[in-house]
Amino acid sequence: MAPIYSRIIATGSALPERVVSNTDLEKIVDTSDEWIRTRTGIRQRHIAADGETTGDLAFLAAQRALDEAGVKASELDLIVLGTTTPDIIFPSTACLVQQRLGANGCAAFDVNAACSGFMYALGIADKFIRSGQSKKVLVIGAETLTRMIDWNDRETCVLFGDGAGAVVLEASSEPGIHATCMHADGGYKELLWNPVGVSAGFKDEPNHGVRIKMAGREVFKVAVKTLDALVDETLQAAGMQASQIDWLIPHQANLRIIEATAKRLAMPMERVIVTVDQHANTSSGSVPLALDYAVRSGKVQRGQNLLLEAFGGGFTWASALLRY
Ligand code: UT7
Repeated sequence: MAPIYSRIIATGSALPERVVSNTDLEKIVDTSDEWIRTRTGIRQRHIAADGETTGDLAFLAAQRALDEAGVKASELDLIVLGTTTPDIIFPSTACLVQQRLGANGCAAFDVNAACSGFMYALGIADKFIRSGQSKKVLVIGAETLTRMIDWNDRETCVLFGDGAGAVVLEASSEPGIHATCMHADGGYKELLWNPVGVSAGFKDEPNHGVRIKMAGREVFKVAVKTLDALVDETLQAAGMQASQIDWLIPHQANLRIIEATAKRLAMPMERVIVTVDQHANTSSGSVPLALDYAVRSGKVQRGQNLLLEAFGGGFTWASALLRY
């Protein structure tokens, strides 16, 4: 039987309207635009309005991707949504988005792999298509991470933003996605986490109920090392050389991490998609937001090879090498 591949046929994204600059944050915590720019590359972030949820952003991104694809929601046979900030505990945000799109009946579920959520969702969707189980899949990465930030903690509050991105995947006789890789190591859980929840219990103290905790310097070191190994593994899995990659579309956490991965691949920064300056770290939203920006700005062209990767809490890390 001829192999089945999955192909990205369209992308979409959504950002909250409200933009908060580094200078705005100088008024809240002891920080500076200069520190944030030089240590992270971030200049601004979008922050969800009161009442605006992960599902709202996911729905908009999904609708834009479906419109671009010319695919009706009723044609979808699977929705996979990466998020660590679901609207409610259950139903999953994927189910909430499914209902709003009018795709009722197809399978729909969330994946929680922190910042690697979209990359995990993409890898899972690819396997559903390759197995013949699904023909048209909506893959979303969406977050409102600023909802669980401690606005008194300058070490974390300057880093994150809200947003969503989506892709429509379709079964094809041509690649498509050449290879995906997924990993996790729960041994690192305490370096980047939000240690409250349903079963462990929420806490009542004001401003301490739900918040992200991160040992930034340690996360940085492991991220760089791990992503180096991940891009090597992904190239090997796809049977390709770094020189065949047209664009690196990395997780947008820190420009210095992105530059380190580009260096590993010997890729000039002109071939790397950077949106961290505009969006900050939107966790699962980061890679699909960057991909949609790259497509809509005309940088990424059909037939080009893209290397997508992400690293986040867990730790989790995942990648995809695909022909767009
Ligand atoms: O998406 C999931 C993956 N997450 C990441 O990849 C994040 C990885 N980590 C990072 O991006 C970086 O480690 C940070 C941006 C979080 C921090 O940068 P750094 O170069 O590792 O700084 P540092 O933590 O070593 O801190 C340097 C100094 C410290 O002061 P002292 O101890 O040298 O006096 C911090 O207290 O910078 C201070 N600092 C700040 N100063 C101004 C920390 N945060 C701030 C701030 N404004 N917002």
